[in-house]
Amino acid sequence: MWASDNVGGEALEKLVIEGGAVLKGTVRVHGAKNAALPILAATVMAEGVHTIENVPPLLDIKVMADILRSIGCTVDIREGRVTVDTSRADTPHIPEELMQRMRSSIFLMGPLLARFGRVELYQPGGCAIGERKIDLHLKGLELLGARIEQTQGRIVCRAERLVGTDIFLGIPSVGATENIMMAAVGAEGVTRIINAAREPEIQDLQNFLNRMGARVSGAGTDTITIQGVRELRPCTYRVIPDRIVAGTLMIAAAVTRGEVTLEDVCPDHLTALTHVLRQAGVQITSGDAIMNVRCSRRPGMIERIVTAPYPSFPTDLQAQMMVLLSLADGLSIVKETVFDGRFKHVHELTRMGADIRVDCGSAFIRGVPRLYGTTVEATDLRAGAALVIAGLVAQGTTIVEKVHHIDRGYDRIEDMFGRLGARIERLEPAPGAT
Ligand code: EPZ
Repeated sequence: MWASDNVGGEALEKLVIEGGAVLKGTVRVHGAKNAALPILAATVMAEGVHTIENVPPLLDIKVMADILRSIGCTVDIREGRVTVDTSRADTPHIPEELMQRMRSSIFLMGPLLARFGRVELYQPGGCAIGERKIDLHLKGLELLGARIEQTQGRIVCRAERLVGTDIFLGIPSVGATENIMMAAVGAEGVTRIINAAREPEIQDLQNFLNRMGARVSGAGTDTITIQGVRELRPCTYRVIPDRIVAGTLMIAAAVTRGEVTLEDVCPDHLTALTHVLRQAGVQITSGDAIMNVRCSRRPGMIERIVTAPYPSFPTDLQAQMMVLLSLADGLSIVKETVFDGRFKHVHELTRMGADIRVDCGSAFIRGVPRLYGTTVEATDLRAGAALVIAGLVAQGTTIVEKVHHIDRGYDRIEDMFGRLGARIERLEPAPGAT
């Protein structure tokens, strides 16, 4: 069973989209899910009351709050502000059910080991986008001195003391970099993570840890240095804007040949996408925390896009970009190098009239004049967002099922696009429907 499947009634909700709207207007980009999740996990490292701001009201945030409560924290979520009191956290054990609900539950491993010298959890649930191992997380913690036992999916890490060392990552994994960073804050001496992930969310986590009193430097480069410290204090912190939500909005504006202004966005975090969209003929201007996206004609093809770790083209925008290329003038190629199962949206887009062939990890996309509305299924978070964009531009009505996947990363996507003129509504299941 996929981690994000056991969500009850939400699984029956649908989005109904009337195609043909041209997106116009201004929209504020909400806080970053992939920054908020490790930061919320890191709060357990310092006893006391933390306030995390600009946190979007997403399904994954609710699950993280449940996980923090399950180890003894009190958590209050109110209008983008999450208050976490970690002073009574006393159980470094995360129930399997919660681990199954969200992969990011693995982010508690480093912080709990740093605070309690022990953590017990389970292999996180599977994921529709491909193999998502945690061997690099475990290897890194072992190098810091942890003893790790694994039996039938149960993982127990123990460490009387953690000692800083050099850790080379075979893959610049986002999650492994974050977990090792957090554990190393509680280690004696200096740790260096070499070939570290460079995503903006890593920099945001570094800034949060340092706000608590840690001494981390180098995030954003391929070498991160952590000087272990004895004491940390609770703090208040504001999470960065969500570059993947911003990218989704930029692509939707271009595909519908509209004009959209994004507020509370970080243009520097979107360099790879901006470069590719400009190649396709989209006009993009940016200023301080603001971007304007305008497209008045059919986008041009892009010879080749290769997804790769930051600052290359993000895998989390691959599906959305494929919608634009499905309507572009000519043949485009998209090579997915981060996840080995992240083309599930191709089948659904083809059912809408797209001409896409997948071979050896690459998608060959021949642009067609238009897409046609039909009933499609979201297989994962970003594939779902891509199908919504396809519905915005398709001829006729599109029904997107399994919306709960989309709710994991977008705060009511129908309102976000609705504010820009889209004709989109959510259908809730009839009471008692199964
Ligand atoms: C983070 O996942 C993001 N999730 C993902 O966003 C994103 O797609 C991914 O980074 C890549 O940018 C969060 O931050 C919560 P990885 P993560 O570890 O940390 C392999 C979204 O849509 N690997 O960088 O799980 C792994 O199998 C989500 O918001 C190992 O082999 O990604 C994959 O092929 C989806 N061993 C590659 O590295 C390990 O121990 C990249 O994974 C760890 C990873």
